[in-house]
Amino acid sequence: MAHDSSAPPARRWRGGIPLLLVACLAGGCQRAAEVQFVSAPEVEALDPPLRQAVQEQLARHTGDLGAVKLVSDAALDSRHLQRGAAVYARYCVQCHGASGDGAGPAAAYLVPRPRDYRKGIFKFNSTGYGNKPSRDDLLRTIRQGITGTSMPSFDRLPKEDLEAVVDYVLALSQRGELETLLALQADSDGELTPETADELALAVADQWRQSRDNVVEPATKEPAFDQASIELGKEIFQKRECFKCHGRDARGGLAGGIEVGKDAWGQVAAAADLTSGMLHGGAEPLDVYRRIYAGINGTPMPAFKNLLANEPDSVWHLTHYVLDLADQRRRGVQIPLGAAAGGATPPAPAESGGATESPEPAPAESASPASETPASETSSGEAAP
Ligand code: HEC
Ligand code: HEC
Repeated sequence: MAHDSSAPPARRWRGGIPLLLVACLAGGCQRAAEVQFVSAPEVEALDPPLRQAVQEQLARHTGDLGAVKLVSDAALDSRHLQRGAAVYARYCVQCHGASGDGAGPAAAYLVPRPRDYRKGIFKFNSTGYGNKPSRDDLLRTIRQGITGTSMPSFDRLPKEDLEAVVDYVLALSQRGELETLLALQADSDGELTPETADELALAVADQWRQSRDNVVEPATKEPAFDQASIELGKEIFQKRECFKCHGRDARGGLAGGIEVGKDAWGQVAAAADLTSGMLHGGAEPLDVYRRIYAGINGTPMPAFKNLLANEPDSVWHLTHYVLDLADQRRRGVQIPLGAAAGGATPPAPAESGGATESPEPAPAESASPASETPASETSSGEAAP
């Protein structure tokens, strides 16, 4: 379904046509009626005059359905974003929802749930815990899909469609973040001035612009990927208590029903089954390195960069161990279910003093952008030294 790029809607589309019609060109007429933005609960909770003020300011900064603007780049060509909207209406809306709330008609049946972009939290970043993803991160995810989940690969879409839809996802994400901030601010001030709205929009935009400067590069060069490194990784996995979430056999949730808490989207988080052969965040050594070094946004998977600061190669050894585990099935190695699961109890933050300091969701629950970037370095996403 997702791979059908034979008649890309945006090719036929010419400027000025409302989104509903675009959806029809894309073959989605039957769904056209559903294509509308749904307000966030924080907006719904406001009194009507405040609600209207929020909606006005939101529209001023992010445009309307069919003419969406990007907060971090208001000058971006509107036809490009309209093309993105058409691609989105055809290929993404059924899972991610028109407002990007992750609640499209198919979503209820999917585990994990499709991403709710409106929190501005993305898992598979190159930019480190608590930071916005780079545009390239999102583009890579959309092209590759997320192995082991329902998120398909869209690699066969024309390049222009990919470029357009990634900006549309950015626009929905920033719109969602701004919407919540405006609503919370209006609620606490009892009013919402255009100046306040401008400040909040700037705060959202700045965070996204800064993400470029945060790309995680490995602290050391990758050592040889050999049996010795894999064995070292295996030892470190036990020593650093990765097993408390992933199980001693690294099978994650399968190993013994280990509970690691909820994610930033309120869903029960499962520690990845590292033996499944399906690494969600990519199977290149650098992908796995970044997951371990910087943690996974919005999930209990902590960053180990501080804990392993004095032994930087350890991140590589762990990476090699994880990659070797992921490859076991292909090699036909039998992995006994639940054997030596070691971690049938949830990690105990208070006593461990180890990697499991706070299996809390990412900090971006917070409505305040200021609290996100630097604070997250030391807060929930970090494994305690
Ligand atoms: C069949 C359902 C489905 C469709 C269709 C789909 N997605 Fe997803 N998408 C998902 C799921 C599920 C996840 C969350 C996976 C996870 O949490 O590991 C996701 C996650 C994402 C993410 C977040 C990546 C991250 O790092 O957190 C982005 C971005 C994304 N999808 C974009 C798109 C775009 C763009 C389209 C359309 C071109 C699309 N998706 C179509 C199911 C879908
Ligand atoms: C507090 C619990 C916890 C601890 C401790 C923990 N993890 Fe994780 N880990 C998770 C969760 C939860 C996920 C799944 C995140 C998601 O994608 O939703 C995960 C995912 C991962 C992934 C990404 C897998 C993929 O599909 O791409 C890797 C790699 C990983 N962990 C390695 C490690 C290593 C190595 C350690 C120890 C140094 C460790 N983890 C410690 C909870 C934990």
